[in-house]
Amino acid sequence: MKTQQLITAFSLLLGVYATPLAAQQPLNFTVKANEIKSAVSPNMWGIFFEDINLSADGGIYAELVKNRSFEFSMPLMGWSIPKEAANNGQVLIINRQTVNSANPRFARVTVPGTRSFALVNEGFRGMGIKAGEQYNFSVYARQQASTAVKLTLTLLDESGKAIGSTTIAPTGNSWEQYKGSFTASATVPKAKLQVQFSGPGVVDVDMISLFPQHTWKERPNGLRADLVQLLADLHPGFLRFPGGCIVEGRELSNRYQWKKTVGDVNERTVIMNRWNNEFAHRATPDYFQSFGLGFFEYFQLSEDIGASPLPILNCGMACQFNSSEVVAVNELDPYIQDALDLIEFANGDVNTTWGALRAKMGHPAPFNLKMMGVGNEQWGPQYVERYTIFAKVIKEKYPAIQLINSLGPGPDGDKFTFLNDTLRKLHADILDEHYYSSPEWFLKNASRYDSYDRKGPKIFAGEYAAHSKGVGNGDNKNSWQCALAEAAFMTGLERNTDVVVMASYAPLLAHVDGWQWAPDLIWFDNLRSYGTPNYYVQKLYANNKGSVVVPILKGNSVISGQDSVYASSVVDHTTGELVVKLVNTAATPIPVALVVQGVKLATNANLTILKSNDLQGLNSLDQPMHISPATQNIDIKGKTIRTNIAPWSFYVIRTKITK
Ligand code: AHR
Repeated sequence: MKTQQLITAFSLLLGVYATPLAAQQPLNFTVKANEIKSAVSPNMWGIFFEDINLSADGGIYAELVKNRSFEFSMPLMGWSIPKEAANNGQVLIINRQTVNSANPRFARVTVPGTRSFALVNEGFRGMGIKAGEQYNFSVYARQQASTAVKLTLTLLDESGKAIGSTTIAPTGNSWEQYKGSFTASATVPKAKLQVQFSGPGVVDVDMISLFPQHTWKERPNGLRADLVQLLADLHPGFLRFPGGCIVEGRELSNRYQWKKTVGDVNERTVIMNRWNNEFAHRATPDYFQSFGLGFFEYFQLSEDIGASPLPILNCGMACQFNSSEVVAVNELDPYIQDALDLIEFANGDVNTTWGALRAKMGHPAPFNLKMMGVGNEQWGPQYVERYTIFAKVIKEKYPAIQLINSLGPGPDGDKFTFLNDTLRKLHADILDEHYYSSPEWFLKNASRYDSYDRKGPKIFAGEYAAHSKGVGNGDNKNSWQCALAEAAFMTGLERNTDVVVMASYAPLLAHVDGWQWAPDLIWFDNLRSYGTPNYYVQKLYANNKGSVVVPILKGNSVISGQDSVYASSVVDHTTGELVVKLVNTAATPIPVALVVQGVKLATNANLTILKSNDLQGLNSLDQPMHISPATQNIDIKGKTIRTNIAPWSFYVIRTKITK
């Protein structure tokens, strides 16, 4: 398509075709820099983590072995027996449900002769291995015969060549953990782990695990450092976890139960991930949850990246899109008890039951939990009925905990209106709005909160993303067009921080070979990761959050789409700066003159510019910074900041101010 055709197509799509401004007259905006409209919530721009798209196992949780404890529905899924070893022994999966109901299965390997038997683990779409890095292996094992079976662990590259190896010699007939490590000799994106059993003998093995030594904060068996770094760079105000629909489960038995995700990793019960079979076009039959990333790790991650923890708990309702299963109201107590115990786990004294577990896991200090979601994306009277019971009990015991409520799956319609009306009457604390919609919707709704009730509950824009092709469509892309529309919409969130106290793009992470839902903020493979243009929009907002909102106006009107420009402004008290955000959704440059009232301006300003001349432009593993912020300085004369905002661009302008 020729450039002019492209311009016209996008402009028509957005409904904001810009008439070229006569003689490039600047748009005159006024910034009332000494007129505080509202404070910006310290939690304002946060992140939404859900174990979807291989975000946890196969993603941020750095374990390289898939199905390490043989608990997937098919116990040997992820494992294979090499042809050449097949006749040298056998493997039996034994289920000891009554002895260990949390981790019932283990593998019994029998090697009758002196030739070796082997099992090979394929990893999560392979194992990402880096040359020169150390890898730590561990296994629980016990011998069953008088002669001991020895284990040789070898990492194999895609051609089957060894790139690292270690041996382990388990002794005795009671379960013990054995460890070994080696340094990889090559970088391989899709390696495999071979576990060779040299007999004769019979050995039991469980929790076969391989982690890189290098993890986030070098924690043993920890998180992937590159992915956490991308999160930390956002300086998020909160971390919402663990979702998302995963909180609900497809049915109640499949719901997220936080108590089963804390304590010894070996005793965390593996369950099927609800995204495993959600979308036929992206079926992921090997998607399970080991809960190696459990609630303790989520709290720790929140603390590490300076985000307030925001757990979302099941309220006795499974996903209403799937099963509509609810727990009987008179059987809600265990669910409410989970919420009360979670507050104790996060904040309780180390002498309390759950506070003691937190301390035992290595964190005696409280995690400073201040808010909690009751239900994820629930709707209908059945939600109100259950929420009301939850809220009464939680508020009685912990009045300071702020509760987040669902407003259903969309930002309007019957489900939304019923909950919005009802929960406002019930004086809910914070209402969670979700919107996955077209870029056009985001532009049209940038003024959504300008007219919201200032005295009612606060708003949490808990899940949102512009979808170019429609929700559930596998062809959605993290295009610049979507990111730009989100940037424009977010000026409306920022302008209304007296009502909107938190916001998070969703979902957060996606494995390029194992995703179910697109778009997503950050994509990765086994070795690499990158932020999308949408990521840089989020980052620019979060890193330029400021302390208070000040008006930016054209005449007496907020700037929300007139002349294809969207704007908001804040003052940052910590740095003594005015911060102005401008979004140009037109295909042409737009000169602006910002007349700043009530303060003295410095003589220069710093501009951070995110732009692309291709609305369908994308970042990728090979071009991670294709669309990413660039900075420049401009001079300021007197009280007016002048700049020419580029076509299809997002500008953040920072300048020092004095009284
Ligand atoms: O973000 C993906 C899904 O979208 C979430 O799990 C759910 O809450 C919403 O429907």
